[in-house]
Amino acid sequence: MFLSNDTIFELEKEYGTPLYVYSEAILRERCREMKNLLPSKNLRVNYSAKANTNLELLKIIRDEGLDVDAMSPGEIYIEQLAGFDSKQIFFISNNVSAEEMRYAIDRNILISVDSLSQLEMYGQINPGGKVAVRFNPGKGAGHHEKVITAGEKTKFGVQKELIPQVKAIVEKYNLTLEGINQHIGSLFLDWQDYIEGVCSFLEIAKEFPNISFLDIGGGFGVPYKPGESRLDLEKLGKELDIVLTRFLEGYPNKEIEFKIEPGRYIVAECGVLLGSINSVKKSYDTTYIGTDIGFNVLARPVMYDSYHEVKIVKRNNKMNKNHTRVIATIVGNICESGDILAHQREIPVAEVGDIITVFNAGAYGYVMSSNYNCRLRPAEVLIDLNGEARLIRKRDTLESLVQNFISL
Ligand code: LLP
Repeated sequence: MFLSNDTIFELEKEYGTPLYVYSEAILRERCREMKNLLPSKNLRVNYSAKANTNLELLKIIRDEGLDVDAMSPGEIYIEQLAGFDSKQIFFISNNVSAEEMRYAIDRNILISVDSLSQLEMYGQINPGGKVAVRFNPGKGAGHHEKVITAGEKTKFGVQKELIPQVKAIVEKYNLTLEGINQHIGSLFLDWQDYIEGVCSFLEIAKEFPNISFLDIGGGFGVPYKPGESRLDLEKLGKELDIVLTRFLEGYPNKEIEFKIEPGRYIVAECGVLLGSINSVKKSYDTTYIGTDIGFNVLARPVMYDSYHEVKIVKRNNKMNKNHTRVIATIVGNICESGDILAHQREIPVAEVGDIITVFNAGAYGYVMSSNYNCRLRPAEVLIDLNGEARLIRKRDTLESLVQNFISL
């Protein structure tokens, strides 16, 4: 944990809660780990920005030499503000409109399409252009069915049986197929799942001998539960190297570039979320700790039953004397019974005024927050390399809640 208890209270006093806090040092470390995954190969790391699009974090990631992927014109817009140039951005589109494609084409940003129908649309609006196609390698992986993005039960990618049709559309519109990509899903901790996906993908790649890159996707997990082991990056790197070396032996373009798209791995662990404990009550058999971290602030536990480790920071440090622990359910302030941050956790006895910290909140935290119940989305703070805290996004205000109304 990169914050001392004293710092936590200082941050709370200065910026209020709920508050996302990020460590620049950890962010940079994770970027470097990913860049070193495959030292002997021509590898580019595209940070998958959907995990966290804070402008300041994007600038640091760019400074570390990573490129980015984008899922929407909005992400492209922010990435360009962060200083990424067109060549560093890869628009991995899904069911976009012709206008959205045009947004990327006008900025010379390469688009990957993930259906024959979208490839047709692309060909019609940009004949003779460059494009990439996302394939579905047939089997996915991930921490929840909602985030498995390959296999028979997903909307993503083109199945390999449709390769002849892909080639026909490419030819019909005189397109250049620059590369192909895949993403099997989010959060695997077992390197074998990834390697399996890559192997099926490489079979597809053999059908396209003239392309210039292969994007093998993201999904690299981080441990959320205590005791869970880390993804063995060294082993994964070695296995990947073997598989890719074997592939290159039979592939004409020896200079082909490989890309990976880690999102969570880059940003999850650099972020913690601070919240306030506003109530403690017992109702029937359950002890509820009521906080200001509703699912409008952190959606993952409600959306995927995700586990986030939490810690109670006592305002009056009586804990040294009192080691009593209780089983409690930690909830937010949203008007739904499902608004549960952590079920039946064993925690120290908590009181109103204590702080709760939620770990690994840097990925898919702020980006999935909302104004539900007209709650204000939180502020974000960066702890820089000198240990100084800096506000990197203001909290919403009551005025910002209503700014899009036509008449006030
Ligand atoms: N590439 C593509 C095409 C993706 O769709 C994704 C994530 C990534 C890369 C990055 O995956 P990562 O390395 O972060 O696992 N909101 C969910 C995760 C959704 C992931 C969506 N796609 C969560 O909070 O667990």
